[in-house]
Amino acid sequence: MTDALNLPLPPAQFRNAVLAWYDQHGRKDLPWQQHITPYRVWVSEIMLQQTQVSTVIPYFERFMARFPTVEALAEAPTDDVLHLWTGLGYYARARNLHKAAQQVVHEHGGEFPRDLDALIALPGIGRSTAGAIASISMELRAPILDGNVKRVLTRFLALPGWPGERAVEQQLWAVAEALTPAQRVRDYTQVMMDLGATLCTRRNPNCPACPLQRQCRAHAGGNPHDYPTSKPKKTIPVRQTTMLLARNPAGEILLMQRPPSGIWGGLWCFPESESEDNATLMLTRLGLKPGHTEPLPGFRHTFSHFHLDITPLLIDTHGAPQLIAEQSLAWVDPTAPGTLGLAAPVKRLLESLAEPRQLSALSGML
Ligand code: ADE
Ligand code: SF4
Repeated sequence: MTDALNLPLPPAQFRNAVLAWYDQHGRKDLPWQQHITPYRVWVSEIMLQQTQVSTVIPYFERFMARFPTVEALAEAPTDDVLHLWTGLGYYARARNLHKAAQQVVHEHGGEFPRDLDALIALPGIGRSTAGAIASISMELRAPILDGNVKRVLTRFLALPGWPGERAVEQQLWAVAEALTPAQRVRDYTQVMMDLGATLCTRRNPNCPACPLQRQCRAHAGGNPHDYPTSKPKKTIPVRQTTMLLARNPAGEILLMQRPPSGIWGGLWCFPESESEDNATLMLTRLGLKPGHTEPLPGFRHTFSHFHLDITPLLIDTHGAPQLIAEQSLAWVDPTAPGTLGLAAPVKRLLESLAEPRQLSALSGML
């Protein structure tokens, strides 16, 4: 059955390698590893979901002093629970913890269910957290697959694909399931977390010290950093605009203030038109007489949800512009633009006019 998973070594050897490393180097003195009960392990796992060990330790100690049992937690006012959570963040975790404690007391007679599905049914407990509680506190053979384990396994297997994708995640669960031992499952769960947290870290995998180094495919390929594959970038639409750099005989450039809401709200920009053909019309509407027109190099400005391809036109004009629709207008000297709030591409274009030699060196040209 494990053949289909195409593992670099049989599960038994994988377990032996990591458990031997655990005996020598694994963490054994964390507070939730003492006096192990489902309640203590559950609280620690919830605290550790989005927070690192060193931060969690004092919170865990205070929490256990104030709420030594699941009954004590269930009976406490929500405010007391939230108070002890202050500083840990992600307060939905604390609310769910409180609700789950009440369910354990009222629906399970104060005992945590020895069953993965029943654990997952409690608020705030996902499949991996249920696996950690079951394996660490009940010695049930249950796999975990948190961020650390996903990183170790995708590297070990050189498994491509973003783990947020269903098919990839299912494959990882199948691998985690196949590797999880029936014996010493508590230590196994802990060592998988420890490997990801201390050796196979996101930025600095310490392969020379890793018990999986000889069979690790990402290490063999020299590219642990490529795993796990990151979320595919969504393609965002491209919009076009023509920016009109209207220049008066004094060499000043016309700016208009944008409306307060929307893109570049309240910032100062050039008049824009949808195309080069519309430029003359646009300036004429502003009361200017356009003359000689010089296209400047185009470039792309990227917002979070679209690319804006900008075609700048430098247009010599005569005449005094009129306010339309209460827009504020200003002529600015590109060598001394003053203190107006400028949109980034506007600032960049004004600077290019002030230093004409750099114009052709604008980066990101189309
Ligand atoms: N992160 C999540 N669970 C953990 C645990 N039991 N020990 C250390 N780090 C963890
Ligand atoms: Fe991670 Fe390196 Fe170990 Fe592979 S050998 S699991 S990349 S630390």
